[in-house]
Amino acid sequence: MKLITVKNYDEMSQKASSFILDLIQSKENPVLGLATGSTPEGLYRYLIEAYKEGKASFQHVTTFNLDEYVGIERADANSYYSFMQENFFKHVDISPSQTFLPNGKAADLQAECEDYEQLISNASQIDIQVLGLGLNGHIGFNEPGTPFSIRTHVVDLEESTREANSRFFESIDEVPTQAITMGIGTIMESKMILLLVSGEQKAEALVRLFTNEVSEEFPASILQNHPNVVIIADEAASKHLSK
Ligand code: F6R
Repeated sequence: MKLITVKNYDEMSQKASSFILDLIQSKENPVLGLATGSTPEGLYRYLIEAYKEGKASFQHVTTFNLDEYVGIERADANSYYSFMQENFFKHVDISPSQTFLPNGKAADLQAECEDYEQLISNASQIDIQVLGLGLNGHIGFNEPGTPFSIRTHVVDLEESTREANSRFFESIDEVPTQAITMGIGTIMESKMILLLVSGEQKAEALVRLFTNEVSEEFPASILQNHPNVVIIADEAASKHLSK
């Protein structure tokens, strides 16, 4: 795992955008794995800016998001589908038919997971998978204890995850209890993983990422076994890492 330390959230976002822009400028049909949450918002702003300045086009880009809540409509402001429209897709020239998220309202969730896996494998391989880091070490919504080999599946969200995400909802009771997430097995097949970590509240989790043995109790620890991981962390998040 390669660690790049930057000053703050803005630098983290800009640096992350440079990896994505390099990819889409050098590859004909790039495939991106994307995340939601607070961490990648700045990255998306930089990508939109590059598009508006005529420095990048997303016309030939395909995207797969990590996850989606179960039980909320795509049109709901809290769906990850809406998050991606608002924070990225609607501002650039990406084709809607090339942006994929699991459908958390599918009648048959198991079939939805299998279809999502099929779509990813049809696209061959994710070139860069963007990840945020959960306070409990989750990646995607793969909570502690999730088998490393698992593919896209339905998860029960931990209370701590629902609490962390309740900031986007009126109250914690509105936070869905389940989600569909790409599995760790799926994530690990990406060519490159770009893990973004910002803020003091992630400092503990970042230490664990480097010091934990590879264990399902701390899902992100599996990244130690991936051949091409770049972690971009700001000063606040990396404050407990020994220099
Ligand atoms: C989001 C996702 C989650 C988040 C993680 C960090 O699609 O899969 O793993 O990346 O919960 O969330 P933030 O960035 O809000 O701190």
